[in-house]
Amino acid sequence: MFQKEQQLIEEKIKAFCTANDIALAELKWQPIPFSGEWGFATSFFQTAANEAKLGKGSKLPVPQKAQEIAEQVKGQLGSVEGISHIEAVKGYLNVYFKTSDYARRVVDEVLTSGADFGRGAKKSETVMVEYAQPNTHHSFHVGHARNTILGEVLARLVEFAGFETIRASYPGDLGLGVITVMWIYEKLYKGQEPEGVHERGQWLAKLYVEATALLEKQENETPEQTAQREAYDAERREMYRKWDAGDETVRELWRVTREWSLEELREILHMLDVKMDVWFYESEVDEPSKVIVDELIARDIATDERPNGGAVIVKIDEKLGLTKEKYRTNVILRRDGTTLYLTKDLALAKVKFEQYHVDRSIYVVDVRQSLHLQQAFAILKLWGFPQAEKCHHLGYGFVSLPEGAMSARRGRVALFKEVYDEAVKRVLSVEAEKSANIPAGERVKIASQIGLGALVYSMLSVDNNKDIVFDINEALSFDGRTGPYIQNAHVRANSILKKMQVSGFKFQASGSFDYELTKHEIELIELISRFPQTVEQAANEYRPLVMAAYAYELANAFHSFYHAVNVLQTEDESIRNARLRLVSAAKQAIANALRLLDIQAPDVM
Ligand code: ARG
Repeated sequence: MFQKEQQLIEEKIKAFCTANDIALAELKWQPIPFSGEWGFATSFFQTAANEAKLGKGSKLPVPQKAQEIAEQVKGQLGSVEGISHIEAVKGYLNVYFKTSDYARRVVDEVLTSGADFGRGAKKSETVMVEYAQPNTHHSFHVGHARNTILGEVLARLVEFAGFETIRASYPGDLGLGVITVMWIYEKLYKGQEPEGVHERGQWLAKLYVEATALLEKQENETPEQTAQREAYDAERREMYRKWDAGDETVRELWRVTREWSLEELREILHMLDVKMDVWFYESEVDEPSKVIVDELIARDIATDERPNGGAVIVKIDEKLGLTKEKYRTNVILRRDGTTLYLTKDLALAKVKFEQYHVDRSIYVVDVRQSLHLQQAFAILKLWGFPQAEKCHHLGYGFVSLPEGAMSARRGRVALFKEVYDEAVKRVLSVEAEKSANIPAGERVKIASQIGLGALVYSMLSVDNNKDIVFDINEALSFDGRTGPYIQNAHVRANSILKKMQVSGFKFQASGSFDYELTKHEIELIELISRFPQTVEQAANEYRPLVMAAYAYELANAFHSFYHAVNVLQTEDESIRNARLRLVSAAKQAIANALRLLDIQAPDVM
């Protein structure tokens, strides 16, 4: 927002340093929070350290040297257009604006940029975010929702920060779990098929529970029961063998049931406004991953122990020259020639790098897979992919319910769709009393936006590494750190602007803030001005929480402003004009923040 001033000052600093042979370090600017005025600052500690290292200039200790440079620079700067005054304090150069100028410029910037307010400059790197990749033949539960929401928000953040962004999914569509569902379907339910996309997906999850019960060893089994269970297991193994061998009937059953899962997944992604760019499947990298094994052996990264009756392994620690155990030794091809999850991840990464030209590769995956991913990244590094340094695992903790932990095997899961339906139902019952003037159809749409807002925000407001106990009552609360609380700030801003329109008042194209600002206005302006740097930080650190926390603070500042400052009744027309512009800017900033958080911004609720 203030790049012009920063640039101007930077040029003057550079000219001064060149003229005086000072080894200037890169200048980093930081905003100065309001303290009578707003401003931005930079320090000269690095420059002072550079000088000391070169043994140049006075022999002062670094802090004093930094202060000396700051003072010299300040003396050189003279007056700069738009700047009220400049200070040299403790090695820092503090540059201040006239408060009314700063306020006006922040508000003007938001209103001219609109939906683009906060967007970062275009970056040269391509980021791929892989998320929403549950295993098929199960149903989508709230844990998957956490994954999907974190991934989508991260994708929105990096995209808005200026990176070329690719959204990718990678469902696990093979393995014993998948075969288990197919086995029981074939045995007990052949030909059946519930109607409805969600019903079908959920049904598969039920089949899985039933199959698990039949295939699991029970306590105190009778010999007959044991024989029965073993016979079932033999059938399942036979089916797996056929699948592997490419048996057409088994493959067809697999394709059909897999599609039921994917249909449900696509439907939920649609509800969450997620548009995937690329679909990878575990089954599709299985074959390519076998080829990779040979390449890794040829390059002496993997060790082939098959001649001695072993497997193909990668001694990661040894190859990296680590003396302490970190990544351990890993199998990448079993003795029977089958690949592992790790092998497939290597093949997948190769495709991401070579076909999609990904520079930064993000994996949104359960924290429990952390070691697995670190191992994969380490092998990619041994393999010579420079992008390995920029692979990042965004892990996330477990989601449980107040009733206790979920278990797909036991059928104790909170299905996303059920939780969503419940949330919407609750919002509707409250809304029906509160906003009788909203037409019924509209109300359902808004209830869905609020219900989803509550769900989504509850997944974002907790550090991704921490576990969540998902409590629907808490999530739906209109107070505290919730989605509806932030949405409500947008609604309130909108209602002020609506009333303004009705009254026939229109704010001017620009507004002067040349009056004594209340602390609520200052706080609100300050938060709005922090939006661009918050996007940048959240994107660079891959931390959706940074944006989620900021959105709450912004909403909070607006709610306080709303309660304390009388906008429409302000006597002085120029102040009223400025305040209305501020409300409009706040509404835009909140809308932009909500959009990045994948939450709708309703105008009424
Ligand atoms: N399908 C896996 C699961 O549900 C997650 C895939 C993670 N991505 C990866 N490249 N390994 O656990």
